[in-house]
Amino acid sequence: MSGKNIKKNNDDLMEKIVSLCKRRGFVFPGSEIYGGLGGAYDWGHFGVALKNNIKQNWWKKFVESRPDMYGVDAAILMRQEVWQASGHVAGFADPMVECEKCKKKFRADQLEDKKKCAECGGKLGTVVQFNMMFQTKVGASGDSSAISYLRPETAQGMFVNFKNTVDAFHPKLPFGMAQIGKAFRNEITPRDFLFRQREFEQMEIEYFVRQENWEEHFEYWKGEMLDWMEEVGLDMAKVHELEVSKEDRAHYSSRTVDFEFDYPFGKKELFGLAYRTNFDLKAHKLDYLDEERSEKIIPHVIEPTFGVDRAVLAVLLSAYCEDEKDGEIRSFLKLKPNIAPVICAVSPLLKNKPELVEYANTKVYAPLKTEFGRVAWDDNGNIGKRYRRQDEIGTPFCIVIDFDTLTDDSVTVRDRDTGKQERIKVVDLKKYIKEKIS
Ligand code: GAP
Repeated sequence: MSGKNIKKNNDDLMEKIVSLCKRRGFVFPGSEIYGGLGGAYDWGHFGVALKNNIKQNWWKKFVESRPDMYGVDAAILMRQEVWQASGHVAGFADPMVECEKCKKKFRADQLEDKKKCAECGGKLGTVVQFNMMFQTKVGASGDSSAISYLRPETAQGMFVNFKNTVDAFHPKLPFGMAQIGKAFRNEITPRDFLFRQREFEQMEIEYFVRQENWEEHFEYWKGEMLDWMEEVGLDMAKVHELEVSKEDRAHYSSRTVDFEFDYPFGKKELFGLAYRTNFDLKAHKLDYLDEERSEKIIPHVIEPTFGVDRAVLAVLLSAYCEDEKDGEIRSFLKLKPNIAPVICAVSPLLKNKPELVEYANTKVYAPLKTEFGRVAWDDNGNIGKRYRRQDEIGTPFCIVIDFDTLTDDSVTVRDRDTGKQERIKVVDLKKYIKEKIS
């Protein structure tokens, strides 16, 4: 049976998550063996699996199961004109200030004391606007016409393919374009693990509507976003809506609602929903022929935007649990089976007994692996250690093949959350797991 639940303590929760992520192969600091690179993280085996499950779940809900959504995977490098037209070259900047003494740079809008350096007490200089786009050069010429940028949002990759999508699929309004991909921002102060990075991923939708209907679509997408957050297992008591003030909205937005999350380091943005008007299509000189009404219009855009990395962080923070039994503390990730990196782990009770290993491998592991894919083989250490390891990566079920299995063709299935163990016939295993995860 499971032990007594221990209440989450915000003080050291981030440390525990960061440490678990490294120890169990989810997320590693970028370029670690050379001292690390601020704002860049590398994903390990289980992190990739968790991230992929989250992205697949999103794609399934918002693209595959809808008749009105068109997927895109645009190039990250685009011509500089894209970013000039979109307003990012002129305006995608954060206020930055430098300490005159220690030369450390800060985001000016995030400082409590705007005059004195928080690090050394030195005098802070004048606030300047720092453009967050990473600049690069495409090709060998090296002159200013070769300038390009690593995209700071995936959105423009969809706007510049608006005409291609309309020409290829002839969609009727309203319809949407969706994309998952990398985005890059040269953040002045990357911080809080996956929360503020320089290289991250976004899942974005540009939903094209007639101007007169924007409010109705805005409300609809708010509901869809909240549904998805629940579907991937976010602690909804920690999710809050914030109506973003005019001064704080991005240059393209006429209304923005941020979904904030109670992170251990404070209530901060998780995802956003913006009414981008027809700002972007107009900027790129694009329009749409409404054949039914025989009129040319520039559709307006509702944009639900999700950060993949913030989704992973919020999922991990929501799932992290500890309980205590007989003085021993157990930490586990109560991940939903649909996004857990591993659905079940298969273990022969003893790895030096060939008859157990053979049975576990051929009659349990192989068929389950074929059926579910996300199935792990675990024969390392004693059973208690295997359970702890699988608990920490959030595996919902551990299946153990013991000596009784050889005669009764049954296995022990242990539930991650309750610790309860059941004997299940091997022939019923697939059905049992399917029912549990559906
Ligand atoms: N296309 C609209 C757009 O990019 P945004 O609010 O700037 O809007 C969208 O970014 C989402 O991307 C955010 O809600 C957040 O989840 C994620 N995000 C933004 N900056 C990030 C960063 N530096 N590190 C990790 N995620 C970030």
